Amino acid sequence: MSAPVLQIDQVSKTFQSIRALDGVSLNVAAGERVALLGHNGAGKTTLFRLILGFTKPDCGSIRIAGEDPGTDVARNAVSYLPESVMFPKTLTGREIVTFYARLKSVPKTEVDPLLERVGLADAADRYAGTYSKGMRQRLGLAQALAGRPRLLLLDEPTSGLDPLSRQDFYSLVDDVAAAGSAVLLSSHSLSELEAKTDRVAILRTGQLVANASLEQLQAESAVPLRIRVRARHDSVVEVNERLGGARINGQSVELLCPVPDKMSRLAAISALGPLVTDFDVSQPSLDEIYRHYSTRAEKERKS
Ligand SMILES: Nc1ncnc2c1ncn2[C@@H]1O[C@H](COP(=O)(O)OP(=O)(O)O)[C@@H](O)[C@H]1O
Ligand SMILES: [Mg+2]
Repeated sequence: MSAPVLQIDQVSKTFQSIRALDGVSLNVAAGERVALLGHNGAGKTTLFRLILGFTKPDCGSIRIAGEDPGTDVARNAVSYLPESVMFPKTLTGREIVTFYARLKSVPKTEVDPLLERVGLADAADRYAGTYSKGMRQRLGLAQALAGRPRLLLLDEPTSGLDPLSRQDFYSLVDDVAAAGSAVLLSSHSLSELEAKTDRVAILRTGQLVANASLEQLQAESAVPLRIRVRARHDSVVEVNERLGGARINGQSVELLCPVPDKMSRLAAISALGPLVTDFDVSQPSLDEIYRHYSTRAEKERKS
């Protein structure tokens, strides 16, 4: 396999007394979508700024396509969509993308295909000031995609978007990764990432506390499954007594079930026969896993 496009090795960065990043190591390969999750202040933007070469790490190393951040090779390889990107209100979408294309020495003929790709062809001649938040983010993505970057950095690209705009945005990101770019995108809003990334890296106050696929994190964190059992209309009390768990919505019982106990719990549920009308098993959500890793890191720090 070829070397990862982005290689971050034991990187630390301190501002005055704040340790913004503490021994962070993370790789992203071509075609891979990695989510960098963390609360505000966790160090996500700082990591992006280091990758871009805007600031230097105190220690550790970063390589982009095998080169140092800020070198010509690295700058040509990486593209960036900053958090809350702003564009001049009285330039059109086409003018803005043309401007960025020129900065990156990308031929003008690529501007319209880029606008097309992000679904802004029809709005290309409107002032960016009239764009919705979702359209502005897609314009930002068009700008970032100019020149076919090998590494795409998206800093909280979907924060403040409605669910539909978010889905549109992610399907664009999927296409970009499928075409071979490495994508690192940050978010503090967890639910919006589910199933959209190949790997999840969790930053907590500067430390990487997890770095694996969602499935691996689910298994490793041992956060229990949630089983919802819907009882026959007159049986919810009995179902609750026999299975334990908590009553919800008047008609259902919710059980938290460690993964290894899944089959025995299901057997207990089916033994209730007609008292049960339906059931549903849900995997732990990303939020629950995030909470698990966040609090675990906190406990380890205190102990
Ligand atoms: N230029 C700076 N000077 C001082 N402190 C900074 C600077 N940049 C970031 N920080 C601090 O570093 C920490 C991480 O910030 P940041 O990387 O912006 O987090 P995130 O993007 O995850 O919200 C925060 O405590 C922030 O206040
Ligand atoms: Mg940030």
